[in-house]
Amino acid sequence: MTDAWWKSAVVYQIYPRSFADSDGDGMGDLRGVIQHLDHLAGLGVDVLWLSPIYPSPQDDNGYDISDYQDVDPLFGSLSDFDELLAAAHERGMKLIMDLVVNHSSDEHPWFVESRSSLSSPKRDWYWWWPARDGMEPGTPGAEPNNWGSVFGGPAWEWDPATGEYYLHLFSRKQPDLNWENPAVRSAVHEMMRWWLDRGVDGFRMDVINFISKVPGLPDGTVTGAAYGDGSASFLNGPRIHEFLHEMYEQVFAGRDALLTVGEMPGVTVEQARLYTDPAREEVDMVFQFDHVWADRGPDPWVLQRLKLTDLKAIFGRWQAGLSDVGWNSLYWNNHDQPRVVSRYGDDGDFRVESAKMLGAVLHLHRGTPYVYQGEEIGMTNYPFGGIGDFRDIEALGQYAQAVEKEGHAPEDVLTVLRARGRDNARTPMQWDDSPHAGFTTGTPWLPANPRYPEINAARARKDPDSVYHWYRGLIELRHTEPAVVHGDFTMLLPHDEQLYAYTRRLDSTELLVIGNFGGTPARAELPDPAAWDRAELVMNNTAQPPADWVLGPWQAVIYRRTVTP
Ligand code: GLC
Repeated sequence: MTDAWWKSAVVYQIYPRSFADSDGDGMGDLRGVIQHLDHLAGLGVDVLWLSPIYPSPQDDNGYDISDYQDVDPLFGSLSDFDELLAAAHERGMKLIMDLVVNHSSDEHPWFVESRSSLSSPKRDWYWWWPARDGMEPGTPGAEPNNWGSVFGGPAWEWDPATGEYYLHLFSRKQPDLNWENPAVRSAVHEMMRWWLDRGVDGFRMDVINFISKVPGLPDGTVTGAAYGDGSASFLNGPRIHEFLHEMYEQVFAGRDALLTVGEMPGVTVEQARLYTDPAREEVDMVFQFDHVWADRGPDPWVLQRLKLTDLKAIFGRWQAGLSDVGWNSLYWNNHDQPRVVSRYGDDGDFRVESAKMLGAVLHLHRGTPYVYQGEEIGMTNYPFGGIGDFRDIEALGQYAQAVEKEGHAPEDVLTVLRARGRDNARTPMQWDDSPHAGFTTGTPWLPANPRYPEINAARARKDPDSVYHWYRGLIELRHTEPAVVHGDFTMLLPHDEQLYAYTRRLDSTELLVIGNFGGTPARAELPDPAAWDRAELVMNNTAQPPADWVLGPWQAVIYRRTVTP
């Protein structure tokens, strides 16, 4: 059995290139992380997750790795890394690495060797395929199948030197590794053991449910977009459970106190039960996407407003589905998502209230919460102008495909990218009100959000009413109140479009959480309000407790009562 220390833990994600720059080159680095560890320890988080720091051509900001066992000089050195790991451990924080093994960089020696000739011993470490039957290789439409890549354009790149194509579900600089090949799997396992032997405490596994592909790589469904959707052939593919269990046996078995979390776009609750059932020995928890896709309509280039009842149905389903077996991860933000206070809250007049409300509603669910850098101070989306303001390969690639190939109006595409684009999460962490938010003394690789004089960590730490201290309180509550960790979950008011409410119950303790997802007062029609008359108000993000269960704009409250079983 896996030990479950992580059920009461909170994880903090660091995106190193945007966290803190110690040497003035405009790019965050490991020494910058070391300098700010007390901010994280003060928040009370238990685990740090480092987005990739490995040598990389940085085509996808390090998610294209050219050496799995070193540190990119941009970020420092292996000895800086060891120092960071020791300094985190000294403060009682664990550290997990990002494991990106669905693909490597095209500059990884494995791929360089693989592409060198048809007879290379590493040829079948990647997915090399000839042109479609009867088509001239390298001509439009001659790709082995119709799949599009996540970042726009086809999922195949023609390699004139050997006359074949290689598969890349992401950019052409991110060729997919062939997990069918046992040599690939054992090389990955060896690399993972090397990091664990160095002292790291686990892995966040990038798009790990993409690694098993349906043999034959059949054409994907045609949707009206420029390319087919091949996801049915690579999401949760036929050998995925076998591969993850093998990884468990080869890498994790017999090692204590690790945390493994698989990033799994498109995963269903039923699949997640299998992935996270401890008896099956695969991963501890998964990142599902339903709640961050809840505001995505059928047309990707039309913004859709969130319906709160949809969000509640999603969380309700996941809470129920993993109540007896498996475990949830809980997140609003990461380096791929826009800032939640701008997305599901109000980043104007109610920024602080809505950021706190969103934090409370998320953290009190059953599962392990993840905080993304800047979320703990209520950082907001960036005011992007034109496409030239974006750096993200996804934004640029999707824009090119949508505008040039699919005929969408540039302004429509920009509207969606401004609201949802990944660069919103990637602007520099806002430390103080000095130039560039105290992130760098040089020129930051992406400009700081102009709101930094108001929204920054130094100011938040000094203000007892800040989002930072609210998050600190939520984390402390998880550490001290077992009902937060282990309690049963019951969704209340499933049809209410403005209030999010639920209870958690463990033995004789019951918690009630209510959040107002709107800027107007709203009354909670609780099933048994009298039961809560003498309950303790544990947290409240506004000056007044609700009167007669009317919550103010973006108000969040957490009550606790003792019940006789
Ligand atoms: C994951 C990462 C994302 C990256 C992609 C390809 O979704 O979170 O940032 O672009 O995988 O590695």
